[in-house]
Amino acid sequence: MSDKNFDLAIIGGGPGGYSAAIRAAQLGKKVALIEKQFLGGVCLNVGCIPTKALLSSTDALDIIKKADTFAIHIEKVSFTLEGMIDRKDKIVQDLRKGLEGLLQSNKIQIIKGKGKFLSKNEIEITGANEKITAENIIIATGSYPTEIPNIKVDHKKIYNSNSLLCLKKQPKSMVIIGGGYIGCEFASFYTRLGVKVTIIEALPSILYSHGEDLAKLLSGSFKAEGIDLKVGVKVLKCTDVEDGIEVHLDNNEIIKSEIALLAIGRKPLTQDLNLEALNIQMGKLGEIIVDDQMRTSSPNIYAIGDVIGKWMLAHTAVHEALVAVDTIHGIESKMDFSAVPAVIFTKPEIAIVGLTPEQAKEKNMDVDIAKFPFTALGKAHALSEKKGFVDVIICKKTKIILGAQAIGPSASVLIAEMGLAITNKLTANAVIDTIHAHPTLPESWQEALLIALNRPLNFPPNLKL
Ligand code: FAD
Ligand code: NAI
Repeated sequence: MSDKNFDLAIIGGGPGGYSAAIRAAQLGKKVALIEKQFLGGVCLNVGCIPTKALLSSTDALDIIKKADTFAIHIEKVSFTLEGMIDRKDKIVQDLRKGLEGLLQSNKIQIIKGKGKFLSKNEIEITGANEKITAENIIIATGSYPTEIPNIKVDHKKIYNSNSLLCLKKQPKSMVIIGGGYIGCEFASFYTRLGVKVTIIEALPSILYSHGEDLAKLLSGSFKAEGIDLKVGVKVLKCTDVEDGIEVHLDNNEIIKSEIALLAIGRKPLTQDLNLEALNIQMGKLGEIIVDDQMRTSSPNIYAIGDVIGKWMLAHTAVHEALVAVDTIHGIESKMDFSAVPAVIFTKPEIAIVGLTPEQAKEKNMDVDIAKFPFTALGKAHALSEKKGFVDVIICKKTKIILGAQAIGPSASVLIAEMGLAITNKLTANAVIDTIHAHPTLPESWQEALLIALNRPLNFPPNLKL
């Protein structure tokens, strides 16, 4: 096999693409990974990692600010946004370097340039000035931020999440258009720096798709921090004024602000791949249609990650990568979306997995739902983090756990246990009978499940929240 012929070529070096490359290399395959910009994709460079690096700075700031609660007196606290951005950049660079080394140690050929299909087995790479062939190809090209016709993202006054991650001068005020994942995480970051934040959300609440309870609690927390929430309204246009912008809403309100962030969703990135020539089936939103083994309508071509427009999350991209590669190599595997955890890294954190109470209701399912508040948990008191709750949904008949949600301290960590339980169809008793260390936050799952079985331990009997 010449240097230009591969068993597998992958277009896109994000978490989906590079995980597929590593898995295929492990199976002894000759793999090319084509990346037009930075290895690690959106997740490592302008997504998960940089945003969480910044949010870790404000989490640290929070603890310092409430030092008195822990009987510690701190005289003076100072910080700069520039310092936090520099820290974030260093973390991204270190991880990117590590990833490049990891791929090389797996003997994956990295081709830098933009990939485009010439035929179902042939890819042209502009930038690298190369053509390669491959028996199988995985499309892992990710997604890009959605825009609105009347609002020009100029990256000076109106930003998207990519450009906002580079802004080093702290603004006095900011309007965030879109109260979804990105909007809420940036709102949580900037408000804790002291920026006056307004969120504009078209739906009746922020994080609307995550259910009423979570949205209500987060909205309350945001308002208490001084975030102005304008829900059920749309932005018509933004006009440039001398020291900022004016955001015009469809209820005739005009909000003045120094800068704005547009965060109203992301679209699958398929332009320039020449998919039309291959007759690959696409959906209405430009997503590539795949089956549960990540096959597109063209037999040797697979698609994974944001480009299939299902769950635009890094960990689903990784899982889909493993399913695609195993399927290509005859190892039985298929994608199950029933237990995909999703975390919003706001303060307080929100995490969900499996069925939500709203979905159970919509589907008319016979379930028991139980909630356990952190006010009843020793560890939450020790941490001075009593706001929030966990809730669980179990099948009334079999007692199998179907869904779980958490809002509060370390919700991002807590949710893993319920992911394991739901993926493996465990019953409430399987978790209750697992001895949990005391005092810890995961005890909250045992308590919620005991309530669901009508035998509460650290909670009054017959009290429903
Ligand atoms: P991507 O990571 O988008 O990678 C695609 C790669 O393909 C890119 O590097 C791109 O340059 C390359 N590419 C595109 N076209 C071509 C071409 N023609 N030729 C060569 N290369 C090409 N998810 C989480 O799970 N947790 C989080 O905390 C989280 N936070 C986020 C925060 C923000 C601000 C954003 C924007 C997203 C966040 N996400 C998070 C979502 C997550 O980043 C994506 O779901 C994930 O990156 C998708 O992985 P992917 O491999 O499908 O695509
Ligand atoms: P999103 O879909 O989460 O939220 C977009 C919000 O904008 C929605 O609430 C929508 O109703 C609102 N909206 C749409 N048009 C509007 C308009 N004209 N005016 C006002 N509001 C409008 O999309 P977002 O926040 O851009 O994030 C994109 C994706 O990136 C997420 O869906 C998620 O998959 C991923 N992500 C994941 C994170 C995580 O896992 N922690 C963090 C950040 C992003």
